[in-house]
Amino acid sequence: MTGRKITIIGSINMDLVTSTTQIPKVGETVLGHSFHTIPGGKGANQAVAAARLGTDVTMIGAVGNDSFGKTLVEHLTNEGINTESILKVEDNSTGIASIILWEGDNSIIVVPGANNHITPEVIGRHEDKIINSNILLVQLEIPLESVNRAVELAKKHGIRTILNPAPIQKLPKDLLEMVDFVTPNEHEQALLFASIDGTDQELEKLKEKCIVTKGSKGVLIYKNGEKIEIPSIQVEAVDTTGAGDSFNGALATALCEGLEIEEACRFANVVGAISVTKLGAQTGMPTKKEVEEFYKYINHLKWSEL
Ligand code: RIB
Repeated sequence: MTGRKITIIGSINMDLVTSTTQIPKVGETVLGHSFHTIPGGKGANQAVAAARLGTDVTMIGAVGNDSFGKTLVEHLTNEGINTESILKVEDNSTGIASIILWEGDNSIIVVPGANNHITPEVIGRHEDKIINSNILLVQLEIPLESVNRAVELAKKHGIRTILNPAPIQKLPKDLLEMVDFVTPNEHEQALLFASIDGTDQELEKLKEKCIVTKGSKGVLIYKNGEKIEIPSIQVEAVDTTGAGDSFNGALATALCEGLEIEEACRFANVVGAISVTKLGAQTGMPTKKEVEEFYKYINHLKWSEL
């Protein structure tokens, strides 16, 4: 079934972004370069990426009853996302991510806070949202048992699922068997395969579901045992935070539109590339119009040259 409705279940964080030219050693203080608070969280980022591309997005998540929570829900609503199912938690704070930007790369510490209140029971209450979507997209910044419950419900109703296994952790075989697509980066893929105790046949089956994002080296998929490499679009990166989230939101959108997997990955690759040209995870995510403009610009090139 094709259609344009995506349900995203995942984290909503405020990103506290510090740019610095020096990383402090233990016990040392250094002066940073700049500081910004920017809406983030893998779930929310993916929701914004898809919504800006014109997709009807429902977000299921949780925030605290605090100023970050209020700002973040307002922001998601302004992006056109259905935020009715976002829980306001009284006894925990909104999730935050401390992000250090240093030498063109980032390191992140997430404190999940309210995100941990997305329990399997909460998921169960939103079965109708899952049923009414064409794709369910999940990540791993909420409790694993809740991700599992969401995928179970989607599977029960024949809804396609994408699992973005970030941040990576050991995953149950049952979950990996249920999902339709898994979108690790290279590092996550290595840990994912190292942690699974499966037969060669099971591992081969899992590989065929994998869409591996490799940053500036492109995307790797597997088809009937063959590797297909999709090259990346070369851009000047300002901040790579949320590049994977842009890719996932765009991938879900493209699959909803009925694109075949290879073409969907090429589209998501373009969206991911545009997103890294600005500071912040959501700040750089392109609208449909911006992607169309970009396509016009690269139209004279063959995909294989991109
Ligand atoms: O993927 C990037 C995101 O990871 C950031 O926005 C941060 O909130 C963490 O969840």
